[in-house]
Amino acid sequence: MNQMIDSLATQGYYLWDGFLTPEEVTDLRDCIPDDWKKARIGRNDEVVREAEIRSDKIQWLRRGMGTPVQEFLDKMEAIRLAANQAFFLGLFEYEAHFAKYEKGDFYQKHLDCFKGNENRRLTTVFYMNDEWSEEDAGELVVYDLNDKHIATIPPKAGRLLIFLSEQFPHEVLPTNTERFSIAGWFRINGVKDNQLDIAH
Ligand code: OGA
Ligand code: MN
Repeated sequence: MNQMIDSLATQGYYLWDGFLTPEEVTDLRDCIPDDWKKARIGRNDEVVREAEIRSDKIQWLRRGMGTPVQEFLDKMEAIRLAANQAFFLGLFEYEAHFAKYEKGDFYQKHLDCFKGNENRRLTTVFYMNDEWSEEDAGELVVYDLNDKHIATIPPKAGRLLIFLSEQFPHEVLPTNTERFSIAGWFRINGVKDNQLDIAH
């Protein structure tokens, strides 16, 4: 956890290999119900699907999905508290979805704090692909706000990437094989249309 805090402070991101063990990754994957929905841009119902931007399918994490999901969310809660303590970010809640990219699926370069998601401050991406190899592709490419390449990250099982949502545009390159991840966001509590924005 200290390394994560140091790296977030100096670089704005941290790649945490072995965040979960291979067994824990398997248990987590086994929790995913077979109920995939086309991903939409933004989190509100009225936003239209933008298939040209992303082609993955998602399911939001819920504690009722099982103990491995609960344990994952508990770990995220520990990260939330540590980040708030170190940086006074006022992170209020965490939302996350499983994502499935099938052969040819991608997510074009984007920032996670786009319209409708302005409250996102810290992004997490966790990978669940055993025996990933270079031919599988589907890497995450991370840039800075000047479009300078920062890192190309293979989506290997057990690793967690954490970064400041407003600082790093990123894209998922087309994958050659089925690819599973959990994308999540720590949000601050915002005010929208004169109402506290605490919807899930
Ligand atoms: C996202 C995202 C990256 C990934 O869902 O916003 O950038 O590697 N996902 O799954
Ligand atoms: Mn993203």
